[in-house]
Amino acid sequence: MRRVLFLLPLLLPVVLPAQHEKTGEESKNPFIGDPKAIEAGRKIFASGCAACHGPEGQGGRGPNLRESVYWHPLDDQTIYSAIRKGIGGNMPAANLSEDQTWQVVAFVRALTAPAIETPLATGDAKAGEGLFWGSAGCSGCHRILGRGGALGPDLSNIGATRALPAIREAILDPDANGARGYRSAEVRLKNGKRLSGVARNYTNYSVQLQDRDGNMHLISMQDVSEWHIGKTSPMPKDYKQRLSRQDIDNLLAYLSRQSVREVTPEKKTTE
Ligand code: HEC
Ligand code: HEC
Repeated sequence: MRRVLFLLPLLLPVVLPAQHEKTGEESKNPFIGDPKAIEAGRKIFASGCAACHGPEGQGGRGPNLRESVYWHPLDDQTIYSAIRKGIGGNMPAANLSEDQTWQVVAFVRALTAPAIETPLATGDAKAGEGLFWGSAGCSGCHRILGRGGALGPDLSNIGATRALPAIREAILDPDANGARGYRSAEVRLKNGKRLSGVARNYTNYSVQLQDRDGNMHLISMQDVSEWHIGKTSPMPKDYKQRLSRQDIDNLLAYLSRQSVREVTPEKKTTE
């Protein structure tokens, strides 16, 4: 870090003129993607914003900050000004320093950025890997790069396709997303055979059942004598109790790295 600061004056004259023509600070904010700043931002968010926007930005009195990006993407400068100046009579201006404000902006950004772009400041990926394949039992249902169980979704690319809060929520509150396409299912056929797994799809006429080995069975309702399709995910609901906060952070550190495409996060992690 020292060395970078020392070099900066030498680089500035060359870089600045070009940057000024663009939107300036916005793309230069040093906190975006920096795990330490995001953690600091999380703390400020928890005390100053969560009351209205929810602890993970899921919304409450204020809008959901995780979904708003889909209908009107907010750039960093806009979020920065919203925090400093407030929004109309609806959101109060926050009394934060410039640095603190940028840390919060970095956190708000991390709510929606792919997890691999925002590695955690806390959390040990190696320990998380141990939990995943060991005592937490995740690998009984999830596959990574061809290894593991098949009842749940393949997680080989989870770091590139989901943001950290979404992964955290999937572990701590599996039913929050309604178990899209993965409801637990048990079927007894007229010939006496039983099948269980998850219903990937079902209509009044057929069920597409995926068993624990990953095999798909297309079952016609005519052949079924009894069936039960759960309303929820078969994923265990007690990880919140079973795993410590550190365990969760370790799992997130491990999962956030799972990407089938090579990605080099811009900022250093704490390793
Ligand atoms: C008293 C409740 C309250 C607090 C505290 C609050 N907000 Fe808001 N926030 C709102 C409301 C309400 C809106 C919607 C305002 C509007 O569109 O008129 C909003 C809008 C926003 C938006 C724009 C969302 C969009 O999709 O346009 C961002 C970003 C935001 N808040 C971030 C924050 C951050 C970061 C903090 C903490 C520093 C914070 N807010 C604190 C209530 C609050
Ligand atoms: C009994 C099987 C089972 C176990 C054990 C299990 N899961 Fe899951 N998991 C599922 C199923 C089924 C889904 C899809 C439905 C849902 O979203 O809840 C899922 C969804 C997920 C998702 C969301 C995937 C996405 O694409 O959004 C993540 C992340 C996840 N699990 C992580 C874990 C971790 C980490 C563990 C271990 C701590 C674990 N799971 C243990 C069955 C399981």
